[in-house]
Amino acid sequence: MPRPTLARIDLDALRHNYHRACEKAGSARPMAVVKADGYGHGIAAVARALAKHAPCYAVACLEEAEAVRVAGLSQPVVLLEGVHSREDLSVCRQQDFEPVLHSPQQLQWLEGTVSPPVIWLKLNTGMNRLGFPAASLPALMGRLKSMPQVRIKGLMTHYACADDLSSTGTDAQNAAFIAAAEGYPELLLSAGNSAAHFRPRNPLFDWTRPGIMLYGATPIVGLSAADLGLKPVMSLESELIAVRDLEPGMTVGYGDSWRADKPTRMGIVAIGYGDGYPRHAGTDTPAAVNGQRIRLIGRVSMDMLAVDLNPAPDAEVGDRVELWGGQVSVDEVAASAGTIGYELLTGVTARVPRHYLSSVV
Ligand SMILES: Cc1ncc(COP(=O)(O)O)c(C=O)c1O
Repeated sequence: MPRPTLARIDLDALRHNYHRACEKAGSARPMAVVKADGYGHGIAAVARALAKHAPCYAVACLEEAEAVRVAGLSQPVVLLEGVHSREDLSVCRQQDFEPVLHSPQQLQWLEGTVSPPVIWLKLNTGMNRLGFPAASLPALMGRLKSMPQVRIKGLMTHYACADDLSSTGTDAQNAAFIAAAEGYPELLLSAGNSAAHFRPRNPLFDWTRPGIMLYGATPIVGLSAADLGLKPVMSLESELIAVRDLEPGMTVGYGDSWRADKPTRMGIVAIGYGDGYPRHAGTDTPAAVNGQRIRLIGRVSMDMLAVDLNPAPDAEVGDRVELWGGQVSVDEVAASAGTIGYELLTGVTARVPRHYLSSVV
């Protein structure tokens, strides 16, 4: 018998969320962001599930783009971090990968390349992470025009605070992006991450780049994924492997960090930080058993964690426990662990088998 811990991946929910991105994007087209192993869901399965829907994929690096090709997909793949060597540019050309050009070093590599790929130019409009200063675009375009073999598909920028609906930084970034792009109507524009789809009146330009929303976690601070019409894709599950009645005063787990103050029926679940469940999720982090919400107690171990079964007194060894999914959102667990859904989803380890569900065969 395999260990009962698994991540169920609902590919219908993934497609629902992609269509939600299309709905919000209006005339813009969403490229599906499938980096970091499809945000932990499995890049091949995710890319294939969107094959008939997404006209383009986006990944961080060449290895991930190659994984999309190995999965049998022929759509263009954008490399959001661009290339890490001159040689990578030839691979991009051969494989129809579209690297983002964000640094003077990448520009030098491009200059020396005989058959370069189609590229996107990254402008820094306020994130201050990657990209050329927006004001340097005319000089940059001049330099690129002296390389007649180079085809520039579009301009890209990335938001720093789009997840915060009260911040005005995104408006300033849009203004800088629009001003920089003026005079280059032949170039496509791309700025919007998931959060941008839900910002009232935010321009979405020609291409959006939704990531986290595809996987059914919230991109907006203070709003749940359900509020935004998104469905959870991953359900992280395991089983109760022990049940014990604790007397007041008894402790559970490492460090005696939790002590019963009343008679407590306690369950041990076969999942821990070795599976990617966050060790920082402390007492009171929600979970669910047999449709009933329960809470964690004590410290998360590598392979196990403890739950308070008082709200579910009939629960017994062998019953399924949801750590996150349809009953407890990954965002709730993330909030309890002081992190974000992105980190939890991408952090589920290789030890956890992914089981795919789809109504489309
Ligand atoms: C350049 C770029 N575009 C788009 C995304 C997708 O962002 P999100 O998952 O918030 O939609 C990311 C994610 O890190 C990114 O780095």
